[in-house]
Amino acid sequence: MTASPQSLLQVRNLVKSYAARRGFVRTRAVTGPAVNDVSFEIRRGETLGLVGESGSGKSTIGRAVTMLSPPDEGAVAFDGVDLTELSARRLRRIRKRFQVVFQDPYASLSPRMRVGEFIGEPLRIHKVGRSRAEIADRVAELLTMVGLDPAFAKRYPHQFSGGQRQRLCIARAIALNPDFIVADEPISALDVSIQAQVITLLQSLQRDLNLTYLFISHDLSIVRHICHRTAVLYRGRIVELAPTELLFTDARHPYTKVLLSAVPIPNPKRERARRHLLMDPNFDYSEPDSSLVEVAPDHWLAAGRA
Ligand SMILES: Nc1ncnc2c1ncn2[C@@H]1O[C@H](COP(=O)(O)OP(=O)(O)OP(=O)(O)O)[C@@H](O)[C@H]1O
Ligand SMILES: [Mg+2]
Repeated sequence: MTASPQSLLQVRNLVKSYAARRGFVRTRAVTGPAVNDVSFEIRRGETLGLVGESGSGKSTIGRAVTMLSPPDEGAVAFDGVDLTELSARRLRRIRKRFQVVFQDPYASLSPRMRVGEFIGEPLRIHKVGRSRAEIADRVAELLTMVGLDPAFAKRYPHQFSGGQRQRLCIARAIALNPDFIVADEPISALDVSIQAQVITLLQSLQRDLNLTYLFISHDLSIVRHICHRTAVLYRGRIVELAPTELLFTDARHPYTKVLLSAVPIPNPKRERARRHLLMDPNFDYSEPDSSLVEVAPDHWLAAGRA
């Protein structure tokens, strides 16, 4: 994959291992790196979906590219600047430009902090607002942007529903006008009835603020709905990456086929004809290395399967 001027984030050969061995006994014979030699780019203004089974390394990638938990190896170039090479001071400065929205809005909010303080905190940390009044104005504006009443700034988190809390986290994430947001299962903890509203909010913010997203999700229907391209992760490696619709209609990797066969199709006739594939326990879906080849325009597949 070659770098292009349209790419905002370029990840090269990212490796991340955990020294985890709980207790005395290793539960699995061989546990390789959680993320193994992963390379991809995210283009300006796009939403890149990242899917794969639990434990495949999605959150590890999200934390590594935002340097919350820096990679062991590899490069993460944000707008041409390799984050892994930056001094702490320069990293802090560039951090303004990317943010993370996590799955659990309850854990992200601190119970004793008023909403206004929570949303305004990044402004104070990065010394963006000059006065209290200026910060309060910006907080009110942010609350409005996420569809909440500006008067909520005085309230405490326990007074809000899950969906509203996620809106508060989103307001904080956009406070510094970032270019890039990692959304790690941002709606999984929410009621189904409000998931769509939060998705709609993320989409409209993307348009209005020209945001680029890495969207991590288990919900393949949502991924199909909002992601421009999608990467499929299996045991720490990307096995397939393609424009989302192409991936859903022309999956090539055996793991992708199984994963996507579980997604209902909104068309009743095609839904009836859909075959739900199960994983074959005797088949090895994993990839011995991480090279991808372009099997169709912009459609990348693990080299061993091409
Ligand atoms: N802090 C940690 N310490 C030790 N091992 C970890 C840590 N975080 C993740 N892992 C391990 O790394 C692997 C990848 O985990 P990760 O959380 O990135 O997966 P995920 O794809 O986000 O899964 P999920 O869909 O359940 O959120 C897993 O085997 C996990 O057990
Ligand atoms: Mg995760």
